[in-house]
Amino acid sequence: MRLKPLHLGMAALAGFGAYSLWWEPAMMMNVARYRVGLEEWRGRKPMRLVIISDLHAGWPHISLNRVSRIVDRANALKPDVAILLGDYSAAHPFTWGHTGKREIIQRLKAFTAPHGTYSVIGNHDWWQDAKAQLSRHGPVEAERELRVVGIPVLNNRSVRIGDEKTGFWLAGVDEQRPFDEGPDGEGMDDLEAALNEVTDDAPIVLLAHEPDLFDHLGKASRRVSLTISGHTHGGQIRVRGSAPLIMASDNEKWSHGRYDDEDGRALIVSAGIGCSVLPMRLGVPPELTVIELCEPDPETEEEADEAEEEFEELESEGKLPTGPGGLGD
Ligand SMILES: [Fe+2]
Repeated sequence: MRLKPLHLGMAALAGFGAYSLWWEPAMMMNVARYRVGLEEWRGRKPMRLVIISDLHAGWPHISLNRVSRIVDRANALKPDVAILLGDYSAAHPFTWGHTGKREIIQRLKAFTAPHGTYSVIGNHDWWQDAKAQLSRHGPVEAERELRVVGIPVLNNRSVRIGDEKTGFWLAGVDEQRPFDEGPDGEGMDDLEAALNEVTDDAPIVLLAHEPDLFDHLGKASRRVSLTISGHTHGGQIRVRGSAPLIMASDNEKWSHGRYDDEDGRALIVSAGIGCSVLPMRLGVPPELTVIELCEPDPETEEEADEAEEEFEELESEGKLPTGPGGLGD
């Protein structure tokens, strides 16, 4: 039997659909690891942060049982600090059934670490909370449920992690895009308020759901050594290095991975786990993100140099995507 081109085309389309609509988003899980060597970490023990970002739990890809399996896997990575980066429930119109934020966050309660679990809120935690959208103030349901299970939400707050020798500050900002109003909309983030709570010279790590803030870290926040973000899903659909549909970062620069600015501050953007806008992922599998904070070592410095060189190269070649905020993830 010979297949006609039409049949081959249909088979290829079916394979593409099965992979991007099901296999990659529902069955795959990467672990992205980063070592961040900091001068200000000298004399401190390494700290491992494990991050669950953009879970977007809900059928068909992320059932409550899968949430529990993801939590088990994250715990197996042995975090010193466990971090939840926002966007807890499914955010595309193709989800079905009802996976409530309470049920999701009850499962996330099992994500634990010796120095605690901390969280921030994402844009979809606002956008999919009708009451908060109407009243234009929080706390949103996700925040209330996180508090119920005892997970602190770092809304323009900082907490001291660990003792004097091993410790650092973990800061978090409130949601930068609580209303679906585009890049110029009202934001709830107040980095200055968060950093006002820092009372000693220990290094500062900042949690910000959207990476856009990295461009606006002013002089006052020079001490922020590392910013950790999600939100972009790594582009979610990435073909030959570019993500044409969903970039979701206002300036479209920080999509996935590590970036270093000229002041030596780093940004790490997690590809997250779930989907938004479309129920598919392609070329950017769901990801648990592991960050090892440590003293600088030649290997780490080399990695940082490579990341910086790669970014500069892309920038000079005009290969960094530009333009408006994608489909509004
Ligand atoms: Fe988001």
